[in-house]
Amino acid sequence: MDIYEALYTTRMMRRLHPDPIPLDTQARILDAAIRAPNGGNTQRWHFLAVDDPALKHEFAQLFRQARALEYEKFSTGTGPMVAPAPGVDPAAHAETMRRIKGSGNYLADHFEEVPLLLFVFAIDDLGGANIYPAIWSILLAARAEGVGGVMTLVLRNFEDRVNELLGVPVEEGWEMSAMLTLGYPRGKWGVAANRRPVQEVSSRNHWDSPFGVEVPEPLWPPDGEMTSGPTAVR
Ligand SMILES: Cc1cc2nc3c(=O)[nH]c(=O)nc-3n(C[C@H](O)[C@H](O)[C@H](O)COP(=O)(O)O)c2cc1C
Repeated sequence: MDIYEALYTTRMMRRLHPDPIPLDTQARILDAAIRAPNGGNTQRWHFLAVDDPALKHEFAQLFRQARALEYEKFSTGTGPMVAPAPGVDPAAHAETMRRIKGSGNYLADHFEEVPLLLFVFAIDDLGGANIYPAIWSILLAARAEGVGGVMTLVLRNFEDRVNELLGVPVEEGWEMSAMLTLGYPRGKWGVAANRRPVQEVSSRNHWDSPFGVEVPEPLWPPDGEMTSGPTAVR
């Protein structure tokens, strides 16, 4: 798969078939992911795959509780997703949140069907900086395999229980960074839409100065319907 196709179409997939992901596919995904950059190449990461139905059932209950907690924070005006980015219309933000919640509800309601949960642990993930390249590589490699998923953090609300259920050696410093739900998507892959264009989120030499190029439409696929290229701005 062309790398741009992977970059443009690795959307979060919450509606998954229950079919298992073969072990050799899982191996290819993780073997690609461990090539990711990491500070000092210390590789203080651990990937814990969960496919045991009884464990998945435990995590399903925890996930639903954790999600309810997050949305409680959201409704009381706290939590990370409350505020739109500066300059973004609050109504548009609210609509985005409404859509994410709808598809998140599906994931929560069908959590037991997700064939593979991949917990990612790190020692000192530097606020995520030291582990997110590997997590994104997992999702990109999964995309190349036709496997989709979502990165979630909500189970960190119940970190102690997660550690207990999984037997994590916390005394060594391991902390849960994220949990990915992975499986074969029910929906179709498409370009990750609903993104503010490059010129709105970039500048050059000074915060208020234009980046210099406008990108009215996604530049991939190059010869698809979206043929308009970048426009130089004077
Ligand atoms: C740090 C982080 C945490 C996220 N947590 C969740 C989550 O708990 N549940 C969920 O459904 N999606 C989660 N997402 C996925 C985002 O909601 C998703 O990337 C965003 O809505 C854009 O959707 P798209 O990538 O499909 O275009 C998370 C993404 C990141 C980077």
